[in-house]
Amino acid sequence: MKCVAKKSILKVKPYVPGKPIEEVKREMGIRKVIKLASNENPYSPSPKVIKAIRNASVNINRYPDSGCFYLRNKLANRLKVSKDFLIFGNGSDEIISLATKVFLSDKEEVVLAKPSFLMYDIFSNISGAFIKAVPLKKDLSYDLNAMAKAITVRTKIIFLGNPDNPSGKFFTQKQLEDFLKKVPKNVLVFIDEAYYEFVNSKDYVDSVGLLKKHKNIIVSRTFSKMYGLAGLRIGYGIGHKEIIDLLNRARDPFNVNSLAQAAAVAALSDQPYYRKIAKEMNAQKTIIQKKLNELGLDHKESCTNFILIDLKKDAAKVTDRLMQKGIIVRNMNFCGWHTCIRISIGQKEENQKFLNALEGVL
Ligand SMILES: Cc1ncc(COP(=O)(O)O)c(C=O)c1O
Repeated sequence: MKCVAKKSILKVKPYVPGKPIEEVKREMGIRKVIKLASNENPYSPSPKVIKAIRNASVNINRYPDSGCFYLRNKLANRLKVSKDFLIFGNGSDEIISLATKVFLSDKEEVVLAKPSFLMYDIFSNISGAFIKAVPLKKDLSYDLNAMAKAITVRTKIIFLGNPDNPSGKFFTQKQLEDFLKKVPKNVLVFIDEAYYEFVNSKDYVDSVGLLKKHKNIIVSRTFSKMYGLAGLRIGYGIGHKEIIDLLNRARDPFNVNSLAQAAAVAALSDQPYYRKIAKEMNAQKTIIQKKLNELGLDHKESCTNFILIDLKKDAAKVTDRLMQKGIIVRNMNFCGWHTCIRISIGQKEENQKFLNALEGVL
């Protein structure tokens, strides 16, 4: 007799992450490897964060604080929201997962953009939901009108990545407000703002402000990107208490480890460090974009820490050649863009090596 899994799991294509640096070192026998594949922050966290992790490490014989007391207080003050409007997760991935667990049953529907961040599709499929994937527009922005039209009586969640990955594009306050007018109040609008801290535009959405008018919104953010804590896994959701209470029912009581909690508090307290990093990453992005223009390569304007590049040739081959040179970039085959790669902004020297290698390979 075979153990039989629920049918929906068979529809799930497992997430394939960017290759870890150590794996490429082992496989290629290379000592120095540069990773520009997972939209990580290339800089170490602030020294204050490292100190906080060290201090917290002596107590890891204890379970973590299930309620994330200090982090909750700090963040509630910073965002000017009530403490019970917050939920913390093992990465913001977990907030996506909790929303799908809580709101989706078999045969109910999810509306998302295609391509968009893969985990919306994966978690929704695990829950047995039917996915309505609405293609991006030609310029890779969301087709919010088509997404509104895709809503039916069975729709339970709409996923909006803002900015989204892999496009790097965002939609504006006005576009979102117009969209929300078309969404029934019983449909959860999940706004994923993993790259929120990178966006420098006056038009960008004030999603926390929108919570005043809309009870059916949840916003997720993360410490993985700007705050450089991807390895510790910590993110959060902001929403009305009723929504947060529901998500909390499905949450593992000790889902956020104590080192991550301490690190996140320290990171929020050291804004000057992260402002400096953000400035440097922006400057590096401009240098990369300039060089891509010189090389005649088609790339998309990005308000994030990554850039999508259309090489107009087989991206898998180029990715392999770069890997042989010890540079890991993301091949966009998995979302049907066979000629595209996505790179994250690295440190100055890393970007330079990547650009030289790319020019050589092409
Ligand atoms: C759009 C988007 N959302 C969410 C995440 C998940 O981030 P984490 O689980 O590390 O918070 C990512 C990670 O790459 C992302 O690109």
